[in-house]
Amino acid sequence: MLIRKAPDIASSEITPHSLYLNRRRFLQGAAAGAAMLAMPSIGSRLLADTPQKLQFSKWPGSTSEKQTPFNDITHYNNFYEFSTDKNGPATLAQNFRTRPWTVKVEGLVNKPKTFDIDDILKQNPLEERIYRHRCVEAWSMVIPWVGFPLANFLKQVEPNSKAKFVEFTTLWDPKQMPGENSSVLDWPYVEGLRLDEAMNPLAILAVGLYGQALPNQDGAPIRLVVPWKYGFKSIKSIVKIKLVDKQPVNTWYRSAPGEYGFYSNVNPNRDHPRWSQKTERRLDGAGFLGSGHRIPTQMFNGYGDQVASMYSGMDLIKNY
Ligand code: MTE
Repeated sequence: MLIRKAPDIASSEITPHSLYLNRRRFLQGAAAGAAMLAMPSIGSRLLADTPQKLQFSKWPGSTSEKQTPFNDITHYNNFYEFSTDKNGPATLAQNFRTRPWTVKVEGLVNKPKTFDIDDILKQNPLEERIYRHRCVEAWSMVIPWVGFPLANFLKQVEPNSKAKFVEFTTLWDPKQMPGENSSVLDWPYVEGLRLDEAMNPLAILAVGLYGQALPNQDGAPIRLVVPWKYGFKSIKSIVKIKLVDKQPVNTWYRSAPGEYGFYSNVNPNRDHPRWSQKTERRLDGAGFLGSGHRIPTQMFNGYGDQVASMYSGMDLIKNY
């Protein structure tokens, strides 16, 4: 993965989340009249600049660690379809169209189906889950995602007994996603999980963060979040989910197999060939964007109680 120096942004340029929300509330108020006239569907945006508020319950397993400020989560991104610069996607994804949007679920299932994103939002009760998010590049965040268990979604299509893995694919649309015109990765971006990993109650499909619809740069309108794995497994802007019998070749593995494995469980005992994974730089708003303090990295990103049993008997150094 390309390692770049964090952008040098003065702290005065960063809008705290509270101010951001106030500004948005003001805009929403101004938009309300127009919205009533237009009667938008639940899933549509009132204004391009007005984030959609989500209804959700609070998941009891959330971490109480300090949350990374909204501005850092939305301006320190890896989304190579838009840019290889951390601060690029925030600008380049601004006009990305996330409606209409469908997610096709196919392969080894009894009930293949193409879901409309607004039906997904209506039919799956949303929860706020505050997870640690550990990037393979040794930085981390704490993110209040809004989403629902992937397992609940997959059960709707009834995976059959031949299904062993799940393959996820991002939108391929080079007109909208300028990075897809470059050969920095093989497009479209593909990720995969073993079926039991996909069914683990911690794996979610996220549709929002900080109580509102996902900003485009964070993978709108729907992305995977697998908190015990390095961030690159958490594929953004998903259009296809396929149940398969063979281990999918994920994009980063295809690009550098010695560096990015299929499993990619967070593991402080298995260094990346080019850097240590023993510690991580936690972006928690303590300093300016891109700074943060160093903390020890935990096995399975601290989610071992919920996930370690899936890997019992496996050599997690070889199966990186
Ligand atoms: N998904 C797609 N489609 N394209 C990407 O470039 N980057 C991955 C992952 N999902 C990526 C992606 C990486 S390397 C990380 S660390 C996380 O998204 C970053 O998510 P965030 O920008 O919301 O923090």
